Amino acid sequence: MLKGKKIIIGITGSIAAYKIPLVIRLLKKEGAEVQIIMTPAAKDFVTPLTLSALSERPVLIDFFDKDFGTWSSHIELGLWADIMLIAPVSANTIAKMVTGIADNLLLTTILSARCKVFFAPAMDLDMYKHPTTIENINKLQSFGYKLIKPAVGELASGLKGTGRLEEPENIVSQIENYFNDSLSFLGKKVMITAGPTYETIDPVRFIGNYSSGKMGVEIAMAFAKQGAIVNLIIGPINIEIDHPEINVTKVTSAAEMHKESLNIFRYSDIAIMAAAVADFTPYSIEQKKIKKEDGLNSIKLKATVDILADLGRNKKDGQILVGFALETDNGLVNARKKMNNKNLDVIVLNSLKDAGAGFGYDTNKVTILTKNGDEMIFGLKPKHEVAIDLLSVIEKYNIHK
Ligand code: CTP
Repeated sequence: MLKGKKIIIGITGSIAAYKIPLVIRLLKKEGAEVQIIMTPAAKDFVTPLTLSALSERPVLIDFFDKDFGTWSSHIELGLWADIMLIAPVSANTIAKMVTGIADNLLLTTILSARCKVFFAPAMDLDMYKHPTTIENINKLQSFGYKLIKPAVGELASGLKGTGRLEEPENIVSQIENYFNDSLSFLGKKVMITAGPTYETIDPVRFIGNYSSGKMGVEIAMAFAKQGAIVNLIIGPINIEIDHPEINVTKVTSAAEMHKESLNIFRYSDIAIMAAAVADFTPYSIEQKKIKKEDGLNSIKLKATVDILADLGRNKKDGQILVGFALETDNGLVNARKKMNNKNLDVIVLNSLKDAGAGFGYDTNKVTILTKNGDEMIFGLKPKHEVAIDLLSVIEKYNIHK
């Protein structure tokens, strides 16, 4: 996706510089050319040797390289780059960028750059909160520089708060978004449910299922990559989702998922219901742990609300509703029936019969049906590729509906 893109990464003196080798690797994997420029202070935090090995280019620090007798032209560098990423950028360099102080190669290159400049601050929380820093960051944004916001978390000082350099994957995805000006779902609001639901029996027991949530999470990532604003409602799963364009709402039971889904669906353009919602829940919750000696022959159950069907009833013109169907027999007939009964636009049929498909696997094999009568059979593939297939079907359906 970044094939042939020329990216200058400017590294300043901050402990977070240790994250930059991973940024370089990710950018190179996407096909970008990467040139590193460091401030002299940055050398103490990450070695030029590591950076030049990964970027496959000499690292530039000074105007004049005594070893090679070469002169680095900041003007040529500024013209070469398609974008500049200053990461991590310290409070000191931010202040110099604001005032135009150009006392090292990196700062002169920033001044000469004709391309978009991204800057990703990393500093202690009190430095980040200081009015000077806030004002300086606002000024850089007013120059058209793009802020990659620092994340919240544990800082090198031991304090907790805002100031951590954004994670490498998120930095790279923001750069990808910038280049991909033909994003298919730019600004679209997409709601996705994923994972299982747990229905409480007593304080220590529940009814659940084997859903890992992987498929729904991959769909959320694919939409975020295409510029969508994603609301992901997840049941109890073991996947950490850390993406600036994905808002995560954690729920446990079908009733909680129902409440959140109804609420978010009202302002969504697209909803994908990939969750494996429990169809039944205990009639009542035991407040105390059920003891063995008391015996338990049965648990009285009642049906949960079918969230998807409820959204189908509430669907407004222009909204696209996508469901999943998990079938063991008569897949196509049952899936089409579900699509009609629940007022869906698209349904993804998961067959439990196929090896490597369904719950817990990293791969899946699906057939996607649309209300228009299209029927697309896909082969067994990684779930992130299945997600991309689904997005392309939704995009086409949206155009032709
Ligand atoms: N679903 C839902 N709420 C429920 C049950 C299911 O929103 N209480 C959604 C799932 O997220 C999925 C779709 O309905 O998108 C189909 O789920 P599936 O289990 O295949 O079918 P059901 O409608 O529950 O019917 P059955 O189990 O009888 O096949």
